[in-house]
Amino acid sequence: QVKKVTARAPVNIAVIKYWGKNDEKLITPINNSISATLSIDDLCATTTISISPMYQADQFWLNGEEQTISENKRLSHCLQKFRALKSEIKDHLKIESHNNFPTAAGLASSAAGYACLISALGSLFGISDSKQLSILARQGSGSACRSVYGGFVEWFAGNDSETSFAAQIVDENHWPSLRVIILIVNDKEKDVPSTSAMKRSVETSELIRHRAENVVPERCKKMREAIKTKDFEKFAELTMKDSNQFHAIAQDTYPPVRYMNDVSWSIVSLIHGYNDFVGSTKVAYTFDAGPNAVLFMEEDQVGKFMIAVNHFFPINQLDCLFRGQPIPKETINQGMIDYLSKKINIKEDSLKGIIYTKIGCGPKIAAQE
Ligand code: DP6
Repeated sequence: QVKKVTARAPVNIAVIKYWGKNDEKLITPINNSISATLSIDDLCATTTISISPMYQADQFWLNGEEQTISENKRLSHCLQKFRALKSEIKDHLKIESHNNFPTAAGLASSAAGYACLISALGSLFGISDSKQLSILARQGSGSACRSVYGGFVEWFAGNDSETSFAAQIVDENHWPSLRVIILIVNDKEKDVPSTSAMKRSVETSELIRHRAENVVPERCKKMREAIKTKDFEKFAELTMKDSNQFHAIAQDTYPPVRYMNDVSWSIVSLIHGYNDFVGSTKVAYTFDAGPNAVLFMEEDQVGKFMIAVNHFFPINQLDCLFRGQPIPKETINQGMIDYLSKKINIKEDSLKGIIYTKIGCGPKIAAQE
């Protein structure tokens, strides 16, 4: 009498950032955003939901610990919305969620988590319309509405709950040479959660309005174009500028919020230095609400770039952190190291880890009984 579904959902990283809401409860944003979905095999949330007439109440377990659902407004809201759509759901649910990466390390765990919850519920109760699933996931965590799809995805701000959802720009096979390297600067919980920080930004920053009205619409248009034509230089420049503008808004917030630390800034210098040395924009960075860097580059740059990373941020057993994928070996280019050494000054062992991944597909249903 128990029905059970297990889903996995990917993390996404925004290249045009979502920051600021029009409606706190419905989670409708002040601007469109664009993201890349990362491979589910490297970073994902896994959720198992079972339903049974024997359960006395809904239960929620996160990474092995039971949570009180009534204390979690967003989860309660999401479940309520779901039940409103499927009034035949009378029995109670047991929800078990896991992340294969640290929660709240600024690695978009809430995005994967809510996309996963909604995918599992959708599969259990027969809702397969992606737009509908995106609208539901959005009400758990804004960025989750983008993790409902693979490839590159745009979240349309819309005017209300029904018009605020994400859609795919291109799928995960569109740009196969693109690689993503995450430099983990810190896996501790971040200081100011994005939800409260972005609320403070909307209330106090003047820059944020300018961004939403005058910058993002044009930037999204250019970004869509860069993605569709696989124009790496354009894509990279827009990505880096948008990350920088988001962090400028964090600083323009009062009291200010600081997510990037000194190590993050030396990664920025490393990348601009690398691009200068090779003579064109070959690597891009973006930072979310935390100090970790997410880097994009084409496959042919990985070996050369990793030599530079490994020189300035030595990590033991670098190979094993690459999850079985061999790092292309290249000989050290002393000219490059000398050039970069003039630009960056960095302590050793400042990186906690490296994740080597790529663009991937949307949520998957792993098992159903
Ligand atoms: C910096 O989606 O975590 O990662 O909607 O309040 O849950 P809530 O916020 P969340 O914010 C993500 C902010 C960001 C940028 C982005 O992913 O677009």
